[in-house]
Parts: sequence; structure tokens; C-alpha cells
Amino acid sequence: MGIFCVTGWGKSSFVRCKVIPLLREAGYGVVVFDWKGDDYVPYADRLKARVLKLHEITYLGPESGATYIIKKARNFGFSSGSALLNNLEAVLTEVLEDASQARIASSEELRAYIESKVENRLPGVVDKKYLSLCLARFRAYFRRLDPRIFELLIEAGKKKPKEVIELAKEEGVVIIDLSGWEPEEKLTAFLTLAEHVWYKMNVLKERVGVAFVIDEAPQYCPYQPKGLQEETTRMIESLCALGRSYGLPIVVISQGMRGDIGINAAVRRNINTWFIGKVHPLDREEAQNMLPGVDIDFLQSLEVGHFYFYGNMCPSPVPLLIRFSIEGC
Ligand SMILES: Nc1ncnc2c1ncn2[C@@H]1O[C@H](COP(=O)(O)OP(=O)(O)OP(=O)(O)O)[C@@H](O)[C@H]1O
Ligand SMILES: [Mg+2]
Repeated sequence: MGIFCVTGWGKSSFVRCKVIPLLREAGYGVVVFDWKGDDYVPYADRLKARVLKLHEITYLGPESGATYIIKKARNFGFSSGSALLNNLEAVLTEVLEDASQARIASSEELRAYIESKVENRLPGVVDKKYLSLCLARFRAYFRRLDPRIFELLIEAGKKKPKEVIELAKEEGVVIIDLSGWEPEEKLTAFLTLAEHVWYKMNVLKERVGVAFVIDEAPQYCPYQPKGLQEETTRMIESLCALGRSYGLPIVVISQGMRGDIGINAAVRRNINTWFIGKVHPLDREEAQNMLPGVDIDFLQSLEVGHFYFYGNMCPSPVPLLIRFSIEGC
């Protein structure tokens, strides 16, 4: 399902007030990804939703943890692929493996543990000529790291993806509060849950029974994905394709439909139910293609909370103009 209109014209409110209750009525649990933490989190009580913060659901194992630290430490000043960086990566991975065996439970403790163990082990793997340079760079960049990133490297107390999905099924609505983190961590948290449901559908052939609400969709699957967005875009595309057979409705919400401001074409092609309100001027042509019988100037004059509804879920063969009230939700 796709919901599109210019900023401030009621997309998130429509999803909160109408789409989530509808999905609940249809028997689905709902997982909402709240990019800024201010569209759904403040309404958690009214939605009877459980809020989980990004760090409560994200755990990076030793290998991805080492890659993550290196990325955050900007390669410790080395060029990527260099022998010194490879040595450092191998040591970091080993140390993170030991840390997970040692069941370290606080991020401060983990940080201190990694720093001292890496310093102890570097002399065993780095050529003497480069040792002091390597140690100096490691210390300098490591100490500049945001202490919070170590929260993502601790397994203890984390909700596993399976538990989050079960929680949504049992309790109804789970909001993932992504606020306060960089886009990269937000997308990683999304991928953690997405990979689990992908595995459930594609490998186990199990029904999911939970809907994903992806607000601010261009952050996850833009027209031209970059970096981690390439992974999230591919993932959303395959979730949409598999989700039809395995009970995983996907709701994407975006200000733009096409081009620079829009969502990725591969994801757009998978949308079969549309809600289109007043659109961005750059989307006039796309809106005209999608709504051939609708006067485009009239569409552009629609007030907040008005959408044209059409596609598989719409009972009418022509788009229906609908509006909704935000009272009581
Ligand atoms: N049906 C409605 N009736 C009256 N007011 C509404 C309605 N829908 C939304 N609003 C109000 O319009 C404002 C913007 O709504 P909302 O945040 O849902 O828009 P949005 O399209 O998601 O915006 P953004 O692109 O910034 O995410 C809010 O203050 C909301 O209360
Ligand atoms: Mg919004």
C-alpha cells in the first residue's frame, strides 16, 4: 500500500488513525518504523502500542560489529584494504568474539575491554616498524568514537527480531523509535527485523501475519539508493514480492512518488493500493498517469486529510475521494 502527498498534508495521521486500526481489524500485528520518533511514538498509548528503542532491538555480532567500529572510526585513518587495517579488523573481530563469550553487559565496560584487548594484541600481528603508528592511530580514533555505538555491540538484554515480531502479533502494535541515531543505524535496525521476516517467508515458508509501516520511505528506498540504502531498497522490494503470499502487508509513506523526491521504481511497481492527496509539483505528471480521470488542478487544491483511493483494496473501479477525521486518535 502506498500513501503519497506533500509534506504536512496528513499522511502519518491517516496511517495512525485509519490504516493501523484497519490492519489490526484484519488480524495483523503491526510494526511501525518511526524515523524521527515524533509521528507515532507520542501516540503509543492511544494505539495501545509498545515502543521499542533502536538500541533495544539492534545487536551487531563480532564480524559486523568490527566492520561497524572501523566505519565509525573512519578506518582509523588507514586506506581501506591496507594491510594494517586488515590486521586491525582481524584483531577487533577476535576481541569482539571474546567479549561476547565474556557476556559483558554495559557499554562502558565493553568499550574499555575492547580498547585494552586490542592494544594488547596488536604487537602480536603488526610488523614492529608500524606498531607505534598503528597503536597511536587506534587510540586516537577509538577514543573519539561516540560511546553509544557500543550499545549496539552488546547482546545481553536485546530483543531478538523473532521476539519483536511475536510481540507485534500478541500485543498488536510495536513502534520502533529510531530517533537519536544516524541514518545508517536506523537502516541497520530496519534490516535486522526485515532479514528475519525475509528468512521466515523465503526459507521457512511461514506466514508472517504482521504488517510493516515504513514512514518517510525515501529514507529507506529512494529513487537512487546510496550505501546501505541499496540493501534496504532491495530488501523492501523482496519483502513486497514475498509478502503478498506470506501475510506481510507493507505500507510505504512518502511525500514524492517519482524521481528525486520519490521512492525507488522497483518498490513503486509492487504497490497495489494507492492513496494520493495533493502532490508535489514535480509529481504532477505521475499523478496524472495514476489518476487519469481526475482533474490535476483539483487534486492540487485538496485539503489536508483528503486522498484519492484506488487499487486492489478499493471496492470501486474508479478512484474514490475520501477524507478522514483525526478526532479521538
Ligand atoms: N484529517 C485531518 N483533519 C485535520 N487535521 C489533520 C488531518 N490530517 C492531518 N492533520 C493535521 O495536519 C498536520 C500534518 O499531519 P501529518 O503529520 O499527518 O502530515 P504528513 O503528511 O505526515 O507530514 P510530513 O510529510 O511532514 O510527514 C498535523 O498537525 C495533523 O494534526
Ligand atoms: Mg509524516
